[in-house]
Amino acid sequence: MKGAVFTNFQEMIEEQFGMECWETLLEKCNLPSGGIYTSSETYDDEEILSLVVALSEHSSIPVPDLVEAFGRYLYDGLAHSLPPSMMDFPDLWSLLEAVDSVIHVEVNKLYPDASTPSILVTEKRDNGVTLYYQSPRKLCLLAIGLIHKAAESFDTPITIKHTCCMNEGADHCSLVIERS
Ligand code: HEM
Repeated sequence: MKGAVFTNFQEMIEEQFGMECWETLLEKCNLPSGGIYTSSETYDDEEILSLVVALSEHSSIPVPDLVEAFGRYLYDGLAHSLPPSMMDFPDLWSLLEAVDSVIHVEVNKLYPDASTPSILVTEKRDNGVTLYYQSPRKLCLLAIGLIHKAAESFDTPITIKHTCCMNEGADHCSLVIERS
């Protein structure tokens, strides 16, 4: 996973749980990188997983809740790392359509070793869309957090139904997103 994800994770922990919490997690996890992250470098996915599990043990917040909350936090950090013209969408629905075809394409140009998920709008309705998510990382909850925060940035209240999930054996996830 790109360092940008790790630096945002560290920032969230220091802001919401305190500096000592970050130090405690680093001691617990004994990470190959030593916990020093640079945005443009790539680090083992295992590092972020062990940090999330350690944070869950430390805070008694279940792992899935932490992953979704981190998705919400991560959105602003990622969105601000692109030139504003790249994030200039008229509404949530056009942003969601552009994640795969514009935003993550740009990410892959910036960081040729990035590995972004497939996120495709497979159905458009008057009041929402169905999104297809596929990634060996099975981080659909991170996607859900990111989408909620994107919706907030457009002042668009939404509900998300996770109608099929890779973590339950499916080959992809389906997210039915509706204006509420
Ligand atoms: C609602 C909007 C977005 C969704 C749903 C989304 C979804 C995701 C997900 C779920 C991942 C985790 C990796 C995986 O699942 O395999 C990811 C990775 C990533 N995304 Fe997005 N994303 C969104 C917007 C953005 C934006 C605005 C940026 C701007 C730079 C961005 C940059 C990245 C980067 C750098 C990674 C890490 C790739 C890697 O570690 O190799 N994403 N995205």
